Amino acid sequence: MKNVILEVAYNKKVSNDIYQMRLMGDTRAIKNYDEFIEIKLDGYYLRRPISVMDFTDSYVDILYKVLGHGTKDMTSYKEGQKLDVLIGLGNGFDITKAKKPVLIAGGIGVAPLIGLAKGFIDRGIKPVFIYGARSKDDIVMTNLISEYADLKICTDDGSLGYKGNVVSFLKSLNLDFDYYYACGPQVMLKFLALDFKNGEVSLEARMGCGFGACMGCSIETTNGPKRVCKEGPVFDASEVIF
Ligand SMILES: Cc1cc2nc3c(=O)[nH]c(=O)nc-3n(C[C@H](O)[C@H](O)[C@H](O)COP(=O)(O)OP(=O)(O)OC[C@H]3O[C@@H](n4cnc5c(N)ncnc54)[C@H](O)[C@@H]3O)c2cc1C
Ligand code: FES
Repeated sequence: MKNVILEVAYNKKVSNDIYQMRLMGDTRAIKNYDEFIEIKLDGYYLRRPISVMDFTDSYVDILYKVLGHGTKDMTSYKEGQKLDVLIGLGNGFDITKAKKPVLIAGGIGVAPLIGLAKGFIDRGIKPVFIYGARSKDDIVMTNLISEYADLKICTDDGSLGYKGNVVSFLKSLNLDFDYYYACGPQVMLKFLALDFKNGEVSLEARMGCGFGACMGCSIETTNGPKRVCKEGPVFDASEVIF
């Protein structure tokens, strides 16, 4: 973990309530996709945890959805603004586990999987990318994802792609895959893990410290309690007790 000051390079709206932000500075402490960062927002005591979507040694890209006051305030951040950020948090996906990967995203859970898809392309593997959301307006970054993956979309209301959730879509596709990587709402991950054990799920939890000190983000696993911020946010799908 490292505490750094990063500068907003851009902060642009990509849909009704989803924004893409690039933060520039010394980001060498980030080592893996779906590590997360914690941003200190002016006027708030607790930092906001956000997944790494993409990174180099000199910038990190994030995708965030406006949920409450903190993320709403973030939308007003302008180019050049300096932010106090903890980077290099959490474990990230294990890209070495799959030869025929499927990436499964629900809603804003798409963010870390975009970076992971890029990571697979760099290794000469084009993954299948299943992306589900409530409606077509919640589906973002499709051009970028299509550069890295075979993108398949579903929506709950049928306004784009297959009508239904990602789990029923995955079953209907009958794909030949050996391992999956998923990020999305807890209920989606739960039903996915019930039917498919061979994969990794990235969890969210309300966080206090964000680096393992307060136990505020503990979850139950078959190997005892674990902290989402420290031993996670990525866990083996078969070990999480939902
Ligand atoms: C490991 C991890 C990665 C995440 N990655 C992303 C991402 O890439 N993009 C994105 O849009 N969101 C992501 N989230 C969720 C994001 O942290 C919350 O949406 C955000 O903290 C909400 O803050 P707020 O002030 O707008 O909402 P408020 O509801 O006002 O927040 C109140 C408090 O609750 C916490 N909180 C609220 N919702 C969540 C939540 N779902 N998860 C964790 N803490 C929450 C806030 O951090 C804050 O401390 C991630 C969460 C975790 C734990
Ligand atoms: S948030 Fe403090 S231990 Fe995880």
